[in-house]
Amino acid sequence: MATLRTICDHILDICENAINSGGNTGYLVIIETKNNFKFTISDNGRGMDDLEIKKALDPFYTTKRNRKKKFGVGLSFLKFSVEKTGGTFNIYSKKNKGTNINANFILSNIDCQPVGDITTMILHVLNMSNNFHWKITRFYNKNGYNIDSKFLKENFDLTKPSDLKIIKNYILNLEKEIKEEDK
Ligand SMILES: Nc1ncnc2c1ncn2[C@@H]1O[C@H](COP(=O)(O)OP(=O)(O)OP(=O)(O)O)[C@@H](O)[C@H]1O
Ligand SMILES: [Mg+2]
Repeated sequence: MATLRTICDHILDICENAINSGGNTGYLVIIETKNNFKFTISDNGRGMDDLEIKKALDPFYTTKRNRKKKFGVGLSFLKFSVEKTGGTFNIYSKKNKGTNINANFILSNIDCQPVGDITTMILHVLNMSNNFHWKITRFYNKNGYNIDSKFLKENFDLTKPSDLKIIKNYILNLEKEIKEEDK
């Protein structure tokens, strides 16, 4: 079954990789302008050498064990989707230091996937792992905001529907503000 994939779905995939990297801290930076949607996701995990990077971009390669699906598609599909829009994709990784994934989608290209729901995506990222520290920066043109998962989790319990609702409204408001300030 074909599902409509969004740029936010790609971000979730790459954030999952960061959480599984063995590191404990990650940065997610999103910079959106009228024509570009750029994001960077970095972690301080096990990293990859050049050969591992090459393998990681092969859709039939995965180091995930015990899975029905014997291949990983996160990185190779992201690369394909970005380059299809005329944009750029880069991996910087250093063994035992960490990994940095960069994508720049050209939004005006007819082949560009829809951005998707940023607020829901950020909530998922915050909820993916309990002990991974996310520092999130989001820009829309010249306006932006930061979210620190450690700070949020010290003050809220994201498994509680009432707290989740508060955080959802908080992010929705931030999204509204950065888009309004621009008008
Ligand atoms: N941040 C990272 N740090 C270390 N290794 C990584 C990182 N991201 C990807 N890799 C390596 O690249 C492989 C391919 O990643 P990819 O996201 O394409 O597929 P996957 O995570 O294995 O499976 P899927 O994303 O489809 O569930 C991973 O199995 C892992 O070995
Ligand atoms: Mg993956």
